[in-house]
Amino acid sequence: MAKQMFMKGIKEDGYSILLECSFEKLLEQWKFLYNKNQKVCIVTDSNVGPLYSREVSAVLKKDVKEIFVFTFPAGEENKTLDTVESLYSYLIENKFDRKDILIALGGGVVGDLTGYGAATYLRGIHYIQIPTTLLSQVDSSIGGKTGVDFKKYKNMVGAFYMPKLVYMNIDVLQSLDERQFSSGMAEIIKHGLIRDHSFFQWISSNAENILKRDIKTIEEMIYKSCFIKKEIVELDPTEQGERALLNFGHTIGHAIEKIKNFQMLHGECVALGSVAAAYISLERKLLKREEYENIKHIFKSFSLPICIGNCSPEEIVEITKLDKKMEEGIVKFILLEKMGKAVIDKSVKEEELLKGIKEILLYE
Ligand code: GLY
Repeated sequence: MAKQMFMKGIKEDGYSILLECSFEKLLEQWKFLYNKNQKVCIVTDSNVGPLYSREVSAVLKKDVKEIFVFTFPAGEENKTLDTVESLYSYLIENKFDRKDILIALGGGVVGDLTGYGAATYLRGIHYIQIPTTLLSQVDSSIGGKTGVDFKKYKNMVGAFYMPKLVYMNIDVLQSLDERQFSSGMAEIIKHGLIRDHSFFQWISSNAENILKRDIKTIEEMIYKSCFIKKEIVELDPTEQGERALLNFGHTIGHAIEKIKNFQMLHGECVALGSVAAAYISLERKLLKREEYENIKHIFKSFSLPICIGNCSPEEIVEITKLDKKMEEGIVKFILLEKMGKAVIDKSVKEEELLKGIKEILLYE
């Protein structure tokens, strides 16, 4: 019952994205890509490591030279250059050379940090993504964006560096807590909104089975969602243009994430940012009122927030100005031209941003 797709690379070969129901098939992939003379370092965090690092090690054990596990404390606050430095030290102490491999086992923080470690250690070694949250499976593990936060800036230091394999065991989602599951749903809904209205409708009509985490439905949903991301990234791997469409909901979303000191989950902030961006699209008469209401409704039906209290809209706008998505001092804002089609817009004025943000403050 596995599904698979292939992502084209930048200059080098591309990589496979695999959806499986266990960790077992990882061995086959390892044998295809590497050999018994190569060492592996599983990079994980204090939440995921105790759950799965032993199982992943057991699968690979006989066909690798040696397996190491580097575990750092879970949390966005540890997505830093300090943690990367500890990883470098660990790799040096254990004599990792250029042909050895890192495996990122965990959610987005683990994947981004490991990818950055792989991109920079000895000027680049191979890495494999094994994302264990819904959000990292449908978004952060795909497309080679790696990096860490720097001071108060999220993902400010990093590199585009593609993994050699993305291996998902979707069975791990059965034990994912509800908030984390919802957080992943925000990015999935976003993919429908920006690129494929029929996928958005599919999510709506399959909501019950998705919420029950019916394995077949989840598999289909992840596959469809990853396919949308793959198509966008392949056209523009280093975000010179179209890849920015994936940032729908993120300009305001990231600002909220920051203002709330990363106490809200990424997907929760993306949901809020998406509602605000959809409202700006509504104000510009790109969306109908009914479509805007449908967008709010779908986020709500997956327990995602569509309103937020205790925030100053002016402060949120100020933070959006610090965002990486600026070009020559202008925010590259993503609007919906219609349901299933996003556009990059550089003409969104501060007043419009404020209106969008006030809309998500209205429902307190
Ligand atoms: N998460 C947005 C991107 O990968 O471009």
